[in-house]
Amino acid sequence: MTQRIVLAYSGGLDTSVAIGWIAERTGAEVIALAVDVGQGGEDLETIRQRALACGAAESVVADARDEFATDFCMPALRANALYMDRYPLVSALSRPLIAAHLATVAKEHGASMVAHGCTGKGNDQVRFEVGLACLAPDVKVIAPVRDSGMTRDKAIAYAAEKGLPISVTSRSPYSIDQNLWGRSCETGHLEDIWEAPHDDVYGYSSDPALPREPDEVVVSFAEGTPVAIDDRKLSPLEIITELNERAGMHGIGRVDLVEDRLVGIKSREIYEAPGAIALISAHTELENVCLERDLARFKRQAGQRWTELVYDGLWFSPLRRALEAFMDEASRHVTGDVRLRLHGGMAVVTGRRSPAGLYDYGLATYDTGDSFDQGLAKGFVELWGLPSKIAADRDRQAAS
Ligand code: ARG
Repeated sequence: MTQRIVLAYSGGLDTSVAIGWIAERTGAEVIALAVDVGQGGEDLETIRQRALACGAAESVVADARDEFATDFCMPALRANALYMDRYPLVSALSRPLIAAHLATVAKEHGASMVAHGCTGKGNDQVRFEVGLACLAPDVKVIAPVRDSGMTRDKAIAYAAEKGLPISVTSRSPYSIDQNLWGRSCETGHLEDIWEAPHDDVYGYSSDPALPREPDEVVVSFAEGTPVAIDDRKLSPLEIITELNERAGMHGIGRVDLVEDRLVGIKSREIYEAPGAIALISAHTELENVCLERDLARFKRQAGQRWTELVYDGLWFSPLRRALEAFMDEASRHVTGDVRLRLHGGMAVVTGRRSPAGLYDYGLATYDTGDSFDQGLAKGFVELWGLPSKIAADRDRQAAS
C-alpha cells in the first residue's frame, strides 16, 4: 500500500516545492494541510487548490482561528507572556496548534509520516517535532529543508523545472511568519543588527510617527480573559482582530529584538503585535489592581517560566499545564475594565475599575477620609529594618 505523508503547507515557494520533493524521495502520497491561525493574506481555498496543482494527492484546510485565540492566545495573555520581556510568542504559540492538527490529519488519513519546512537553525523545528513526539509518537517526521538539502536555490530551480504555479520573483527578501497574535520578520538586511529596519518589513502596523488623533478603548475582562471592547461583548478572536486594527493604526506593538534562540544562536527579529501588546498592557494593569501583592509577585515569575517553556518548544509539558492551573486560580478575581489611550506607538492605561479590586481609596488617600492609621507605621518600620540595622552596627564596629 502507498504510504501517506502529511505536509504542513503554507502556500509559499518552499512548501509548494516540498510536495513534489518529498513525494519523489519517499514514494509517498502527499496530503497538504494548511492551518488558518489568522495569518490573513491569500484565501485558503486558493492555497488548497495550489497544493493540488503542485501534486498533492489531497489538500486540506483547517480553520483554527477560534481555537488559536481561545486556547493559545488567551493563556499567553493570562501569563502576560513576553519572551525576553518583549516578544509576545507569536510564532511559538502557533506551532503546537499546527502540530496538533498535523497529528489529527495524519491519524484520519492513515499517514505514517509528517513533514514541515523548517530549517535546522530555528526554534520552530523543535516546537513541531516535540509536539508531534508527544501527540503522535509513531509518526515519523521529515524536514526536507533541514535534512535533504532542499536549499532556496534548488527550490527555485525545481519550481521552474516542473512549472509549478508559484511565483518565485514575488518572493520577499524576508522570512515572515504571521498569525492572529502577531507577525515575525527576519533575514535580509535585518541580519546586520546595526541597520535600522526598512519600512517594507512592517505589515501589521503603521508608522507610529504619522500624525493621527488618539483612539480611546475600554477593554473589559472576566477572570483574566477579555470579554468586551467598548461595552460590546466579543469573542477572543474578535477582540484580538479589532485591537490589531485599532492599535496597529497607531504603530503599537513594534519590537526590534536580538533574541536568544533555543538552538544557541542570537538572531534579530522584527515583531509586530498591536493587539497582543495592547491587551497585555491592559491585563497587567488590571492585575495590579486585583492581585494581592505576594500572589502578584509570584505570578510574574510563573508567567515568565510559562513563557520560556512555550518559547523553548515545550507546550506539551506537564509544567506548562500545572503553571496554567496556577494562573487560572490566580486570575479568579481579575475582572474589570481598563481604559487605554492608543497613540504614537503606545497603548497607555489611563483608567481602571474593578468590582474585585484591592485598591482602597480610604487607605490610599492623602485627603480627608484617610482610614490608614499612620501611628502603626512607626513600629513597623523599626522592626522591619531591625536585622539590617543590627548587621550594620556590627560592621561599623568591626571597621573601627
Ligand atoms: N524567532 C521567533 C521564534 O522563534 C520567530 C520565528 C518565526 N519565523 C520566521 N520565519 N520569522 O518564535
